[in-house]
Amino acid sequence: MAEPDQILQFISERFFLTRPLAGKKALVTAGPTYEAIDPVRFIGNHSSGKMGIAIAKELYSRGADVTLVLGPVLTDFSANGIKLIRVVSAEDMYNACQQVFDTADLAVMSAAVADFTPVTKADQKIKKKEGGLNLELTKTKDILKSLGEKKKKGQVLVGFALETFNEKENAKQKLEAKNADMIVLNSLNDDGAGFGLDTNKITIFNRSGNEITFDTKSKQAVAKDIVDTIITTYYV
Ligand code: CTP
Repeated sequence: MAEPDQILQFISERFFLTRPLAGKKALVTAGPTYEAIDPVRFIGNHSSGKMGIAIAKELYSRGADVTLVLGPVLTDFSANGIKLIRVVSAEDMYNACQQVFDTADLAVMSAAVADFTPVTKADQKIKKKEGGLNLELTKTKDILKSLGEKKKKGQVLVGFALETFNEKENAKQKLEAKNADMIVLNSLNDDGAGFGLDTNKITIFNRSGNEITFDTKSKQAVAKDIVDTIITTYYV
């Protein structure tokens, strides 16, 4: 017999929710990326992937055909109809997104992609040395920006901004600089927002200059607000 949450999901999909995204293909990124230093060590970040996974599930429940590109989070995510591509590094995530985006109607980039990666990755474990270790880092490719550059008419591109200061200005600047249609701002200064928590607090900015601030909610409820905003802005 199916698990109770799967039965509930099935019933709500079939009988209670409208499916305004039926026939639309959605790409979602979630989680961190890990940038290898050697076979043992990596540079990463605290992202749990929970927000992006919640968005992928919400888009799927509204009828979208969803592909989730998921970084190395330790979650036992079961796909339940969502196509899952597991990746490790920013380069892997970039390559997966380039492929999937071409046929996508909608993309939501919620992953916390590493901004820097080691220039060289050692084949063997680097041994401890006197005086420590100097790492030379180079910038990773900006996935959201690259999709913004190749976006075609009718494709909707949603990015996130994770900020600790000048939050609104930085979010609006990212909207323009990355040619996104919408930016979802998380501020690490807000209580209930941030890595690993089950809640989030967001403000959504769009290209018409609109700004909507939501209360602190569970990540599933925040995902619903984001998807509702996408649907009312672009699909009704
Ligand atoms: N992003 C991306 N590829 C990267 C870095 C970020 O696609 N290499 C995306 C994230 O998924 C998010 C958006 O860009 O949707 C903003 O990410 P954020 O970390 O807030 O900003 P950065 O672009 O990394 O800029 P900065 O570090 O200067 O804040």
